[in-house]
Amino acid sequence: MSETNTRIALVTGANRGIGFQTARLLGLEGMTVLVGSRDAGRGAEAVRALEKEGVTAHPLEIDVTDAAGVAAAAERVAHEHGRLDVLVNNAGVALGWGAAGATDLAAFREVLEVNLLGPVAVTDAFLGLLRRSPAPRVVNVSSEIGSIGTLTDPESPFFGISGGLPYPASKAALNMATALYAKELAGAGAKVNAANPGYCATDLNGYAGTRTAEQGARVVLHLATRPGTAPTACCGGTWPARPIRTPTGSCPGRGVPRGPGGRAPPGHQARTPPIGAGSRSLSQVQVPSFSVKRRCTRATSVSGLANTSRQFPAVRSSR
Ligand SMILES: NC(=O)c1ccc[n+]([C@@H]2O[C@H](COP(=O)([O-])OP(=O)(O)OC[C@H]3O[C@@H](n4cnc5c(N)ncnc54)[C@H](OP(=O)(O)O)[C@@H]3O)[C@@H](O)[C@H]2O)c1
Repeated sequence: MSETNTRIALVTGANRGIGFQTARLLGLEGMTVLVGSRDAGRGAEAVRALEKEGVTAHPLEIDVTDAAGVAAAAERVAHEHGRLDVLVNNAGVALGWGAAGATDLAAFREVLEVNLLGPVAVTDAFLGLLRRSPAPRVVNVSSEIGSIGTLTDPESPFFGISGGLPYPASKAALNMATALYAKELAGAGAKVNAANPGYCATDLNGYAGTRTAEQGARVVLHLATRPGTAPTACCGGTWPARPIRTPTGSCPGRGVPRGPGGRAPPGHQARTPPIGAGSRSLSQVQVPSFSVKRRCTRATSVSGLANTSRQFPAVRSSR
């Protein structure tokens, strides 16, 4: 078991894309990074690339849909490190973009297996190790198109999205999981938040994104390194450049729109975003007409990532 005070971070799906960049940024912050990959060869390759940058990285074979493999990975981390400080549930797939009414159920099942049940299985398997950390951080990599509020708001650039149910549904459900894990772990001093990385050029969307994977990863880094005073159960990241209306005022959010298959929604002109981010409470993200009074707090700027946070009304951090 590791005796060091170095923070231990696990990123699933870290062999490429936003996951790889997240592993890299966490490593450059001085954390020991466990590079989750479902393929041992791809994981080893990613570790070699990270080591060239001076990052302390170890491969960890983990297919988030394989219960036995997830349990084995948790056992290995328990044996070698004794705890987990940061868990980033990043692994994801985007399939089944047919019209609503013609949903490919096989694709839907696969998307839910990876994007929703995967993070749940991994979080559950590592919960004991997270509780051994003095300040656990869990970041679930979500998406603005998992927002019911955004997709039903006529003023949203995503309003045109009417099909492709599996991916947005998986991320909406992941946001709910985030809120409930935040409550479950509140007593452990944990912060459990969802990240919206924005529209990033990765394999997921055929490299059509207008942000880099590193820019997306900066949102994750920000949430993974929040102090004890920071809110939990938030969705942080980039948002369409329009004010977010709430009963108590508005918080500016900025970002890049993203549509089915990673394309900008019909009629929307994609823009290169400034490096900026905002975050919304999960309640605001999920329910457009939610009437609970919300708090809006401006959080600190980290690495040029201006962040606005709103807290889930039912969850107040005790630290
Ligand atoms: N790119 C965007 O614009 C965007 C926007 C919003 C949210 N996101 C989210 O960001 C996350 C990362 O996406 P990305 O854009 O970086 O995509 P990506 O380049 O396609 O990377 C996806 C990663 O997930 C891994 N993965 C897939 N299924 C897995 C499984 N069953 N077990 C373990 N790992 C698995 C992949 O591994 P293999 O290499 O083995 O396939 C790969 O490492 C996803 O959750 C995605 O939904 C992306």
